[in-house]
Amino acid sequence: MALPARSTSSLIASLLLALSLPLAAEQTSEEAIAEYHAMFGDENPAELWQLRGEELWKTPRGPREVSLEACDLGKGPGVITGAYAELPRWFEDTGKVQDLESRLVTCMTTLQGLPESEVFAIKFGDGERKSDLEALTAYVVAASRGSRISIPLDHPAEKAAYALGESVFFYRAGPHDFACATCHSESGKRIRLQTLPQLTTKEGAQAAYTRWPAYRVSQGELRTMEWRLQDCFRQQRLPQLKYGSDVAIGLTLYLARKAEGGEMVAPSIKR
Ligand code: HEC
Repeated sequence: MALPARSTSSLIASLLLALSLPLAAEQTSEEAIAEYHAMFGDENPAELWQLRGEELWKTPRGPREVSLEACDLGKGPGVITGAYAELPRWFEDTGKVQDLESRLVTCMTTLQGLPESEVFAIKFGDGERKSDLEALTAYVVAASRGSRISIPLDHPAEKAAYALGESVFFYRAGPHDFACATCHSESGKRIRLQTLPQLTTKEGAQAAYTRWPAYRVSQGELRTMEWRLQDCFRQQRLPQLKYGSDVAIGLTLYLARKAEGGEMVAPSIKR
């Protein structure tokens, strides 16, 4: 996907502006995004992550010097079109239900021979250090734009992962005795000025799930679903959520299945 030079440089310009864009403290999430669109139109800096992800996908890397083009994301080696819309799913070779991020880790360690410590060194970028996992995720997810979420839950392990996700979603814990559902099962609820997405209805889950991963204006980074979930664990004051853990994958599968049939539009832009 070669972008014309002008479009790439204007994207970089908007990214730089976005990094320094002061987000007025008095704005709701919706107002902040409306202001962003008024300034930058439909341009989404996530494209920069997609481009870097595409290069990472296609470049031979690691001790074995192979690209990720033989990576099987569930629809056969190298097939990325529509793959994200069918994840998480059961994988015969690992004997696990995997989400996109954990599957990318599998391909980087088994195909390319990269040590896990290296793959996990930068899970989430922090402005200075960019995350390969975030870039690869952006590239793969964008190839599902227009695909409809399809989580058949045929395999017993997929059913078990869904059940785990559902139980965690409603499990009250932490110092405030909150569950995910405490913040996410009513419409129009807010914390301060942030609208709390309603995730227990089909419409609410679709509106949320189809827009992640997202470029976060307030952070100047592209964030994946693994990031979104660990940040909500933090908001709930729970111990840190382990990347690629059964709980992270179970919650993702639960949310994806709730959003069944929704049309993917991610990576999107979030506050
Ligand atoms: C204390 C309240 C609170 C709890 C508890 C909480 N969240 Fe959140 N969650 C938020 C807020 C606030 C946002 C929106 C953040 C923003 O816009 O920056 C959010 C956003 C999300 C989103 C993205 C929705 C979208 O439309 O962008 C998902 C998915 C999500 N939470 C899942 C969960 C899960 C799963 C749990 C339980 C592990 C959980 N949340 C627990 C407050 C909470």
